[in-house]
Amino acid sequence: MARGDIMIDYQLVLDEIVHEVEPHFGKGRVADYIPALAAVPPRKFGMAVRTVAGGEFVAGDADENFSIQSISKVFTLMLALSRAGDEVWTRVGKEPSGNPFNSLVQLEYERGVPRNPFINAGALAVTDMLMQTSRDARGLILSYVRVLAQDFGIGIDPVVAASELEHADVNRALAHYMRAHGIVTGEVAPLLEVYCAQCALAMSCRNLARAFLPLAGGGFSTLVGETMLTERQAKRINALMLTCGMYDSVGNFAYRVGLPAKSGVGGGIVAVVPGKLTVAVWSPELDRSGNSCVGTAALELFARLTRLSIF
Ligand code: DON
Repeated sequence: MARGDIMIDYQLVLDEIVHEVEPHFGKGRVADYIPALAAVPPRKFGMAVRTVAGGEFVAGDADENFSIQSISKVFTLMLALSRAGDEVWTRVGKEPSGNPFNSLVQLEYERGVPRNPFINAGALAVTDMLMQTSRDARGLILSYVRVLAQDFGIGIDPVVAASELEHADVNRALAHYMRAHGIVTGEVAPLLEVYCAQCALAMSCRNLARAFLPLAGGGFSTLVGETMLTERQAKRINALMLTCGMYDSVGNFAYRVGLPAKSGVGGGIVAVVPGKLTVAVWSPELDRSGNSCVGTAALELFARLTRLSIF
């Protein structure tokens, strides 16, 4: 335990959660629309906490890598904001969608402008922006995530990336529709390749808790003092996660957990307690919105046991 963490025994909290989540298994389904994800054992459970004060606490399968999927949308948004600033908001909105994460209908109603950067359309638009600022957006995203997580062993799972690319017709349709409206400016085929690669980043709960720390700690600068994410940008990303990070069950999640968070169909969720800590959880069975069932239950318990919520 590090200085500043003396009030709560996070290890005790995590160990209790591992036991208490048991009855929540078997209620959801592992994602299978990306065939490579269907093979993941459903009963996995890992959790990690990283505090701003320097403490790190883990439980269960916290060091096992899984597919981060939509959690990658937070990293690409961080990168896009640091490279293009507020120009990002000329391509995507900041409102919750109230619709499934890959909805085509809403995009047509709204003339190709995605509601927010965390639904698939919004993330595709953000990645397209990154591709306009870098010849190697895939490499840029990978090295950014490695630096954030302080783990240069992090990689992209080629099997998951290929599996998604082969079954990416809905995302391809979203990208084409946005291109017709000038929101996506590059070619669709390379965009889909980079997008599927970012979703296939393989990381552990420990990695993710570390990588999200700038969102709890008010931004991030490199060792040579270059600002990668300002405090203001960090606050704004937290606001977006609170309102858009859990798709069409964002209200239910705020009610149960009360923290900004981002989920992925690999079963991961990362939540932020601003000024204090990050907490990452992984369990592959998903609810109907594509969020981890056991992961949500674990974060609800975490917020209750620690009395940490933003409300
Ligand atoms: O584009 C997709 O459908 C997936 N690669 C990511 C979706 C996702 O993770 C939604 N999250 N809960």
